[in-house]
Amino acid sequence: VTDSLRVGVIGLGYWGPNLVRVLAEMDGADVVAICDQRHERLETISRRFPAARQYEEPRRLLADDAIDAVVVATPISTHFDLGLAALEAGKHVLIEKPLAASSLEAVALISRARELGLVLMPGHTFLYSPPVVAIHDLIATGVLGEIYFISTSRVNLGLHQPDASVVWDLAPHDFSILRYWLGETPQYVRALGRGCVIPTTPDVAFISLEFGSGPIAHAELSWLSPSKLRRTTIVGSRKMVVYDDTSNEPVRVFDSGVELPDPETFGQYKLTYRTGDVVSPRIHVAEPLMLELADFRAAIVDGKLSTSSDFLGLEVVKMIEAVDESLARGGARVEVDRDVFPDDRLDEADPADAVRAR
Ligand SMILES: NC(=O)c1ccc[n+]([C@@H]2O[C@H](COP(=O)([O-])OP(=O)(O)OC[C@H]3O[C@@H](n4cnc5c(N)ncnc54)[C@H](O)[C@@H]3O)[C@@H](O)[C@H]2O)c1
Repeated sequence: VTDSLRVGVIGLGYWGPNLVRVLAEMDGADVVAICDQRHERLETISRRFPAARQYEEPRRLLADDAIDAVVVATPISTHFDLGLAALEAGKHVLIEKPLAASSLEAVALISRARELGLVLMPGHTFLYSPPVVAIHDLIATGVLGEIYFISTSRVNLGLHQPDASVVWDLAPHDFSILRYWLGETPQYVRALGRGCVIPTTPDVAFISLEFGSGPIAHAELSWLSPSKLRRTTIVGSRKMVVYDDTSNEPVRVFDSGVELPDPETFGQYKLTYRTGDVVSPRIHVAEPLMLELADFRAAIVDGKLSTSSDFLGLEVVKMIEAVDESLARGGARVEVDRDVFPDDRLDEADPADAVRAR
């Protein structure tokens, strides 16, 4: 790849057009082809991007030699087939989250990409979100103290996905964020869920996670809520944070806490409660999707490991599989498969670098 990365985008439903727009706006990339099996989507998007060649069949786009890389923004059940076909056609691939519909599929994609020397990247967009990076830094620098627990709500009305539960749709966001903040994959999960509208498809789930180093977390996910919430509370021994992704002040740091001044007096419960200042740190303004696609380009051009790495994509899929098992077993405590695969690329790049570089 030389000057401009020539990209083809497959899937022009709800999310795909955002990828097309950002690729068209960014330096060093061109959208040279777009593809959707629905003709009307192709027509609508090509009105805005007339220079891009149009394909109804992914197979034909993949045969286009003037394409270096492919972005897959189709439903989850198609990620594996389309991703593999793109790799076999010699294209670098970014697959929207989650990477695949099972860890077996994810492992197969990762192995094949490595054999062929091609970049495979899952689209975990929140890893490039400036508030998420800011909170990572607060945790990493010890400002919050020891992390006791994290509680998060990601709920709104819709959109029911045809081929996936609310867990496969929304948990990739929270799981990738938690993994990044805490620097570890949870050891155990438990989950309760219910298919309220379509009995076989959970549209609400309450997930508990236990991390080996101590923190516990809870995620409430739902497509059935009267109002949209994107709210996370991080409780540390020194400070607490409320992260509200829908707010103008997305990160608020509370100098609040409880102390046991003299552990010897524990029996008498002499606790000190502290409610101090609330600080809203300045957060960079940057579009996460732009940073994500720039990282994809850098992985191809400079050979750097993308922040949203194939390995992280696999871990997120394994976490979701553990949740599915817990749901199937009535909320049982399930161990997450954390076998290191495929090799030693645990040294993930720090997403903060991409944001700070702006
Ligand atoms: N990163 C994010 O923040 C984010 C946000 C939303 C969705 N997503 C992900 O993006 C992906 C797509 O989600 P969506 O909500 O846009 O779905 P969608 O159903 O709205 O759109 C999918 C499109 O793909 C097309 N398609 C399906 N199979 C195809 C095939 N074999 N060949 C060509 N076109 C095909 C469909 O016609 C449709 O237009 C999912 O993986 C989802 O998880 C990511």
